[in-house]
Amino acid sequence: MTILRVEPQTTPLRGTVTVPGDKSISHRAVMLAGLASGTSHIRRWLPAGDTLATLAAMQALGVTVAIHQPEPHAWDLTITGQGLDGLQAPAGALDCRNAGTCMRLLAGILAGQSFPSTLDGSEQLRRRPMRRIIAPLRQMGANIEAADDKAPLHIRPGRLHGFRYEMPVASAQVKSALLLAGLYAAGPTHVYQPGPARDHTERLLAALGVDLHVDGGWITLTPPATRTLAPVQLTVPADPSSAAFLQVAATIVPHSQVTITNVGLNETRTGLLDLLLAMGADLAVSSRRETGGEPAGDLTGRFAELHATDAAGEVVVRAIDEFPVWAVAASQAAGTSTLRDAAELRVKEVDRISVLAGELRRLGVVLAEQADGFTVVGPGRVQGGQVDSHGDHRLGMALAVAGLVAAAPVYIHHADCIADSFPGFVSTMQALGAQMAWVA
Ligand code: S3P
Repeated sequence: MTILRVEPQTTPLRGTVTVPGDKSISHRAVMLAGLASGTSHIRRWLPAGDTLATLAAMQALGVTVAIHQPEPHAWDLTITGQGLDGLQAPAGALDCRNAGTCMRLLAGILAGQSFPSTLDGSEQLRRRPMRRIIAPLRQMGANIEAADDKAPLHIRPGRLHGFRYEMPVASAQVKSALLLAGLYAAGPTHVYQPGPARDHTERLLAALGVDLHVDGGWITLTPPATRTLAPVQLTVPADPSSAAFLQVAATIVPHSQVTITNVGLNETRTGLLDLLLAMGADLAVSSRRETGGEPAGDLTGRFAELHATDAAGEVVVRAIDEFPVWAVAASQAAGTSTLRDAAELRVKEVDRISVLAGELRRLGVVLAEQADGFTVVGPGRVQGGQVDSHGDHRLGMALAVAGLVAAAPVYIHHADCIADSFPGFVSTMQALGAQMAWVA
C-alpha cells in the first residue's frame, strides 16, 4: 500500500491517543543496551523502519534481543549486553536503510572496534552527507574510507584518542557519534555544541554510569576505567516529533480536541510547541512526569485561529524535524510566517525545503523558498490533488495533515515511508475520526 487518500475533514478530530515511542531514544537505547554489561529492559520501544535497522545491526554485531509485542507499535525488548568490548564482527555490511541516526551513531561505535565493518543504506541514505562525522572521527584516530564522503562507510580498526572538537553546526547525530567513539578513546573527549541539539545520548550515558559533564556548550566524556556500562532500564516516552502531526491537525480542524498521552517534553525537542503557542494555538500540558530519564506529559490540543510567526535562531534546532508540518500550520495562520537559519533541512531525508515547497504549492499553498528556509502566506484554502512524499516520512504525514483542511481529496503517493518513524499513523488518525485510508 503506497497511496494514502485523505478526505476533507467535515467533523472535528476528537479523542485521547498514544503515539509510538521516541525514535531518537529508541535508536540510542538499543545501541547502549548492546554495549552494557548485563540485561537491559526497554519498554514501549519504537518498531519503525529506521529503528528496526538499528536493532538488526546490533543483532548482527552479536547482541541477543528478546522481543515481546504487547502492542503492535510498542515493543518491550530484553537485551543481553555484550559489554563495551564484546561486540563481534558482522557477517556482512550493516544495512542502515533510510536511517541517518543509525549510520552516524553506529559509525562512532564501530570506529572503536577491533574488527572491520561496513555501514550501508538505501539510495536515499547514500546521498546524505557523512563528512560531518567522518572528519572529526578521523581526528580521533578512526580509520574510515568513504568515496565522496558518502555511504557506504568502510571502517577499519583504529586506535582512538580523546580530543577537543567544536561542531560547526549543532547536530545531535554528530555529537553522539563522537561521544560514543569517546567510550573507546584514550583520554577524555570534549565536544562543543553551538546550540541546544537533543541531549538523549548524554542523558542515557550518564544513567549508565558514564562520567559525563556539561559546562556551557562543552560536553566532556571520560571513558569508563572499569570498561563497564550499567544495563538500560527505561520506558521510552512517546515521540514529540510524531505527536507534532496530531497537534497541528487538532489545531487546524475546527472544533477538534485531541489528547496525546505521555509525550516526551525534553526542552531540546519542544520547539514546535513554542512556535504554535506563539501563533495562538490552544495547547496545554498536564500530568507532567518523568519517563525514561526524560520529562514527559499529556498534551491536549484544541482548534484555534492562528496568526503568523517567524522561526529563527535557537528554536530551529529544537524544532528541526517539525518544519514540514509547521508549514501546514502556517498555511492556515493569518499573515506571513518565515523560517530562517534552517539550511540543515536541505540535507535531511530529502531536501526538505525544495521538496516541501514543491508539494505544498501543488495543493495551492502560497510558499516561497529561500536558501535557509521559506515564507508561507496564510490563511489559504488548501486544494485537493495528487502529491508525493518523495520517500520522506515527515513530508508524507505533513501532506496528510494538509489534506484534512483541503477542499477536495488529497492523494499522497509513496506514503508507505510514513512507517519509517510512525507505524500506525493512519489508524491513529482514523481513531480520532480522520477520513483517511490506503487506496493502493
Ligand atoms: C536526530 C538528530 C537530528 C534530527 C534527526 C534525529 C538524532 O539530526 O533531525 O531526525 O536522533 O540524533 P541532526 O543531528 O543531523 O541535526
